[in-house]
Amino acid sequence: MRKKFLEAWERAAKCLELTREDLVALLSSDDEESVAIFQLADEMRARFVGEEIHFRGIIEFSNHCARNCCYCGLRKDNLELARYRMPPWEIIESAGRAAALGCRTIVLQSGEEAYYSGEILAAIVRAIKKDNDVAITLSVGDRSRQDYALFRKAGADRYLLKHETSDPRLFAALRPGTSLEGRLERQRWLAELGYQVGSGNMVGLPGQTLETLADDILLFRRMGIEMAGIGPFIPSGRTPLSGDTGGTMAMTLKALATTRLAMPCAHLPATTSAATIDPQGRVKVLQCGANVIMPNMTPAQYREDYSIYPGKIGLNDTPEESYARAVKDVENVGRHVGVGYGHTRQHKRVV
Ligand code: 5AD
Ligand code: SF4
Repeated sequence: MRKKFLEAWERAAKCLELTREDLVALLSSDDEESVAIFQLADEMRARFVGEEIHFRGIIEFSNHCARNCCYCGLRKDNLELARYRMPPWEIIESAGRAAALGCRTIVLQSGEEAYYSGEILAAIVRAIKKDNDVAITLSVGDRSRQDYALFRKAGADRYLLKHETSDPRLFAALRPGTSLEGRLERQRWLAELGYQVGSGNMVGLPGQTLETLADDILLFRRMGIEMAGIGPFIPSGRTPLSGDTGGTMAMTLKALATTRLAMPCAHLPATTSAATIDPQGRVKVLQCGANVIMPNMTPAQYREDYSIYPGKIGLNDTPEESYARAVKDVENVGRHVGVGYGHTRQHKRVV
């Protein structure tokens, strides 16, 4: 093993704050070194966040989007996609179904668009909270500070707003009309409003280097991120990046395990994209530092059209089947489904 790698690994094992150089040394690991990172990440996961795997049932309630992100199948210029919007009653009903199955967190996700006003989304949050003992995460992209305040007042606990890439130039190129600074400003607003803030990135974006990935992790840490969704970039048809090679499972596992070493208490989900590029993807990431699963609770008839990238798993499953598959994966890794809301440690007393 390389000296630089060993030094970084030892610093991680002692829970010392990892530097950019440490992170690059870990991310550049060869096969043998990777095994050492994966083992340590799994140990740190057990020690700091335990054996519970938290379920966050996700409802993809609309695939309309006003943005044109170069990597995403929901981009507005993809005219071949059939678009849908679930009516509020159906979102609320789906949340109830997810809660009845056992999800203690409901994630409401959509493309970025103004159709659902701040008031309507707040009313949906309020209705779900009134009837179910759940935490709510919103993942509806860039909105006004006023809207974020409304959602929070209505009872939303967490907000997922990924920074996608820490490279400002790459960010601006991939997300036309937006900036990394604007994204981070919103993450700051959300934290100020009392949300637990989730972020995330994609592994294998064109133009991304190991240094970019190291900076992604440093950015999670600097922003006080409580959950980081790390998944491979999967090239999607009818997008400008359709001919790209995309991210690998090996690099995704390294990025995830290194994030666990850098932020031992973070919630790290097994992303659907990781499960999509490798049939064993979910189990693999759960053994390399991940501690959250987001079972798909979207009604079956909408799933096919929430096609951010091709080959997404579970398109023909009902919420019940998706939940059962997630339980099976938890059993396969010998752990158990979380019983509480699954807040991060520093937020345990909030609810
Ligand atoms: N491959 C993998 N993940 C993607 N996302 C969007 N497009 C892709 C893709 N082609 C992720 C982004 C976004 C979330 C909704 O899906 O991280 O935040
Ligand atoms: Fe819209 Fe989000 Fe896809 Fe960008 S990544 S096109 S904002 S759904």
